[in-house]
Amino acid sequence: MEKVNLKTQNLKKEIIEIFKKFGLNKNHALISTNALINAELVGAYGHGLSRLRMYCERISKNLINPKPKIKIKKISNSISHIDADDAIGFVAADLAIKQAIKNAKKTGIGLVGVKNSGHYGLSGYYAEQAVKKNLITMIYTNAPPAIAPYGALKSLFGTNPICFGSPTGSKVPFILDTSISMINRGKIRFAAKNNKKIPEGVALNKFGKPTTNAKEALQGVQLPIAGFRGSGLAWMVDILSGVLTGGNHSGRVKDPFDDFSGPQNIGHLFITFKTNLFVKNYNLRIKDNIKKIKKLPKIKGVKEIVYPGQNKYKRFSVNFKKEIKLTKNTKKDLDFLKR
Ligand SMILES: NC(=O)c1ccc[n+]([C@@H]2O[C@H](COP(=O)([O-])OP(=O)(O)OC[C@H]3O[C@@H](n4cnc5c(N)ncnc54)[C@H](O)[C@@H]3O)[C@@H](O)[C@H]2O)c1
Repeated sequence: MEKVNLKTQNLKKEIIEIFKKFGLNKNHALISTNALINAELVGAYGHGLSRLRMYCERISKNLINPKPKIKIKKISNSISHIDADDAIGFVAADLAIKQAIKNAKKTGIGLVGVKNSGHYGLSGYYAEQAVKKNLITMIYTNAPPAIAPYGALKSLFGTNPICFGSPTGSKVPFILDTSISMINRGKIRFAAKNNKKIPEGVALNKFGKPTTNAKEALQGVQLPIAGFRGSGLAWMVDILSGVLTGGNHSGRVKDPFDDFSGPQNIGHLFITFKTNLFVKNYNLRIKDNIKKIKKLPKIKGVKEIVYPGQNKYKRFSVNFKKEIKLTKNTKKDLDFLKR
């Protein structure tokens, strides 16, 4: 983050001050700001500064605890259980991935469950930290209801992202980080806030009819990837991050924008492990794997077969030198929050 352009550095300072004004300590404000700025820089605008006002509103309503007493329970040298005490999700996730890395470095594998957390943004952001330490990682979080389980009439699963990260033997990590909805809810919220349409085939309105109107989609149902397979994956994530950890599950995670009746109590699961558990030459093997795939004949219009994470890395490399362009609404939010 240190090489970001001057205007971004100033923006970063502003956001840190806003979080501090709402009661976060300096370190938590920095962790949260870095995560939001990173989302902007990788082009994940739906998880970036458009959410700042929501976090601040939840803090001021005591639904996010600005001064959490986070407890880390050691279950074994590999396994830890974190009670995040309703901390802002960025802080809980940052602590959890660091603990998972520590555990894996010690024993080969780290497993960290988190309960009483909140929305933490992009799973891939935390996966990058583990991959930088030469670890493979799998990360899960549940989210508020957005998708109807296959065969049901009502939304219950979140867009529950699935994330897998691995070193590649090059500086660009392999990070598969995907929601199990056709598009993530952040993109729909962003479109709704900025009066933009959403693509066809990603959502139904509250009457079960296909819609490209973002506001209608938010009141209706998002469609999962691959029908019942996507619904099954969303369910898996709900079990791993909610049922297993003590977090909310089965539709009880509150929507951070619309539901102020209590904290979210989101659950997360972080798994990290060394690459040399079974072979001594993982980096050579994965390089070979990627090379073989990239050399395949390509379909018309495709110049390069890219692996997951490559696009995001490229976007970050270009964007971090430029000024972050805020939308009118986000600028308004910033002005409001600074007052
Ligand atoms: N915290 C939450 O509650 C929550 C919920 C949902 C999503 N999210 C986050 O939102 C982010 C965006 O999710 P998304 O589903 O919109 O991601 P996306 O559709 O932009 O990308 C999904 C994956 O596909 C890869 N990819 C994209 N184009 C590719 C190509 N041409 N070839 C090969 N791979 C390609 C990407 O690198 C990425 O790993 C994720 O970081 C996710 O963690 C968070």
